Amino acid sequence: LKVLSVASEAVPLVKTGGLADVAGALPAALAPHGVEVTTMVPGYPAVVERVQRGRAVHKWASLLGEPARLLAGEIAGFPLAVLDAPGLFARAGGPYADPAGRDWDDNWRRFAALSRAAADFGAGAVKGRSFDVVHAHDWQAAMTPAYMRFAPPKGTRPVSSVLTIHNMAFQGFYPQDTFPRLGLPDAAWSVDGVESYGGVGFLKAGMQTADAITTVSPTYAREIRSPEFGMGLEGVVLARSNRVSGILNGIDAREWSPETDPHLAQTYTAGQLGRRKRNKRALEQEFGLASDDGPLFVVVSRLTWQKGMDVLLEVLDHLVGIGGRLALLGSGDAAIEAGLHEAAARHPGRIGVRIGYDEPLAHRMQGGGDAILVPSRFEPCGLTQLYGLAYGCVPIVSRTGGLADTVIDANPAALAAGVATGLQMNAVDYPALAAAISRAVDLFAQPAQWRRLQKNGMKADFTWAASGAAYAALYRQLTGTTE
Ligand code: ADP
Ligand code: GLC
Repeated sequence: LKVLSVASEAVPLVKTGGLADVAGALPAALAPHGVEVTTMVPGYPAVVERVQRGRAVHKWASLLGEPARLLAGEIAGFPLAVLDAPGLFARAGGPYADPAGRDWDDNWRRFAALSRAAADFGAGAVKGRSFDVVHAHDWQAAMTPAYMRFAPPKGTRPVSSVLTIHNMAFQGFYPQDTFPRLGLPDAAWSVDGVESYGGVGFLKAGMQTADAITTVSPTYAREIRSPEFGMGLEGVVLARSNRVSGILNGIDAREWSPETDPHLAQTYTAGQLGRRKRNKRALEQEFGLASDDGPLFVVVSRLTWQKGMDVLLEVLDHLVGIGGRLALLGSGDAAIEAGLHEAAARHPGRIGVRIGYDEPLAHRMQGGGDAILVPSRFEPCGLTQLYGLAYGCVPIVSRTGGLADTVIDANPAALAAGVATGLQMNAVDYPALAAAISRAVDLFAQPAQWRRLQKNGMKADFTWAASGAAYAALYRQLTGTTE
């Protein structure tokens, strides 16, 4: 079975968050199930550089007005397709924003072009290449099934499509006057198509036209049926609910495994937890923290409202007051960044803050921290708590989305049964987060209990085995094959 997976970021080429981890992991996750995944990404400068010797397998004289080529390459041994359209993607800055952090004002065109090209490629317009399923990720690729439905390339037959929603908060919503520039027939302008609240909705269009919709955890798949999590698209979720399912993300053990992680000062297994001490000491030094035997909390996160980082700010005095220390890595809202710098200045040696994006440091924090805080208001899946589990860095999470599905709370019953893997809280506010941190400090003071939590987490299986099988089953169901 051949699948074209289309995403705006993929590890190891370009990453701003969990989407890249997942898009990067899918080919290896699906290979054991007889599914060959070709990954398609935009030709950002760093990506084009990686496929310098890539062969041009297709050319568009005008892809939404831009000359473009499709370059075939390879990524970690799997097929890669890069959309080389310099007018859209050859720019300094991030995948979505300029170097100052402002979203590009032609993002609608950049990602409509990605989707148009993916629809052409996926439906078989490129000689010698064909696919059974096109799998689009998030709003940036979500127009792909809409183009396949409303404007399929000439001479092609219909191909099945899957849309995975990694985050309902990002919908790619644009004004009505965008519509005539998308190259779609008038028939696409309807509630069953791309029209959304009077404008154009990229994610909504994908949800209306994909043969299957998945989200990245079962709980989030249920949550998005309500306005709080559906964020305006709950009606579409309900209308298409027989096509919506939740498939939990896995973790890529090639990148995230404490036994082999090249970023750690000291590697270890569940049977060698004592070795983590060296990583903890190194981390304390790196963050300028005092060294003591109390718990070292860590945070690796986008600094946003979604992630509950405003509530984290409120609770920092409490965290320090009961003997905790915090090392934080993240970037995002300026106000939250400023609040963190203030907290660090208030608590020298107890709170260390690193603003920025640093992949090796993220690994070192999982390998040396005692507990990772993930107080998200909503979390489609969440990967940092999974890395925490795998690394013996006990996750403290809110009970939502994938966090609810992956962490077993250390309540008395779970502790007695010896199955707890972390701590959960019922709300994202000061009392709940402060109570969870207090609970963690108490448990940490009981080394046998804490070790049990760590070991249970490290033994839990959040590899791609089960989820790879679930995606493969979905593809086969859609194509009606057993091949
Ligand atoms: P989201 O995709 O919503 O940001 P996830 O938990 O799914 O949340 O994925 C976040 C990913 O990004 C993880 O791999 C995490 O380690 C990484 N990450 C987040 N912030 C940083 C940062 N400042 N530096 C390095 N890695 C980061
Ligand atoms: C999104 C979500 C996150 C999820 C990731 C990968 O960024 O916010 O919860 O883990 O996508 O699916």
